[in-house]
Amino acid sequence: MSSISLGRSSTRGVCFAFASALLTCAVVASGCGRPTIADESKSPSQVTDFTQLYERNCSGCHGADGKFGPAPPLNDTLFLEIIPEAEFLRTVREGRKGTLMPAFARKSGGTLTDEQISIIALGVRNLWAKPVDIPRATIPDYLPPADAQAAPSQANVEAGQQVFAKACAGCHGERGDGGQMAGPLRNASFLSLISDQALRRIVITGRADLEMPNFVTLGKTLNDGKPLTSAQIADVVALLASWRTSDEPAKAAAATQ
Ligand code: HEC
Ligand code: HEC
Repeated sequence: MSSISLGRSSTRGVCFAFASALLTCAVVASGCGRPTIADESKSPSQVTDFTQLYERNCSGCHGADGKFGPAPPLNDTLFLEIIPEAEFLRTVREGRKGTLMPAFARKSGGTLTDEQISIIALGVRNLWAKPVDIPRATIPDYLPPADAQAAPSQANVEAGQQVFAKACAGCHGERGDGGQMAGPLRNASFLSLISDQALRRIVITGRADLEMPNFVTLGKTLNDGKPLTSAQIADVVALLASWRTSDEPAKAAAATQ
């Protein structure tokens, strides 16, 4: 026995108590949480532990605990309620073109196996998904309505200005240049790196970690106490998207006031 070093005397005590055989000791020892030699020499593609996978691949952008990162939080019950599992997996496998979200699947030039990607997706849900207390039928879909997926029209942008004035301007400033409560949205470098999908998601879920409210609170002034609708969200996203390339919508709005 003396040749087996278990490191912690309490563990050794447990071992002696159950020491009917050396085998028992080995089993107890391996259950004590110390990485075995086999674990440490695993090649990156063999790592199947969620915590390690998340820390190495995701936490730098999405935050150590899935929030407070520069990228949208994954530790968000409303987000996990609405994102379809297939869309979650697709985003991780293929990344989001034109944004900083990289592709992780080998097929797409990434470093993770399909199994590892599934472990991450499952781990995120197991850790961070919880029931939300908002009636499901009132929650807008994660993906935009089909007609908004096609290029948004000038009508969408104009409707988006009405939404913005009542639901966003109070914090982000009348022209979206930033206010006392929140930073600018009309900012080319910010908008050039974020997809319409992520904008839509942020308007639905808010950013609880940064005290941006969700669609329920955001709709109150505009809709007489009711939440923002899916169509209103598509319209305000169309407005923000229009700011990527042109300052015109805001000038036009100012001219009519
Ligand atoms: C280099 C930074 C970076 C890394 C690393 C990264 N992400 Fe992302 N991720 C982003 C950004 C930025 C977005 C938003 C992209 C957009 O504008 O649509 C995003 C979006 C997402 C989304 C969609 C979220 C939403 O709001 O709709 C999911 C899901 C996601 N990432 C999962 C992951 C997972 C899982 C990992 C680790 C395997 C990971 N990401 C690693 C930057 C990153
Ligand atoms: C009660 C104040 C408040 C209102 C109203 C509000 N926001 Fe925000 N918003 C914030 C705060 C706080 C942040 C995080 C800090 C920052 O970016 O200034 C934020 C951040 C954002 C971001 C950036 C998120 C990120 O991940 O970087 C977007 C996009 C955004 N808001 C869009 C909107 C839109 C569109 C509306 C209207 C539908 C809106 N916000 C209404 C407070 C608000």
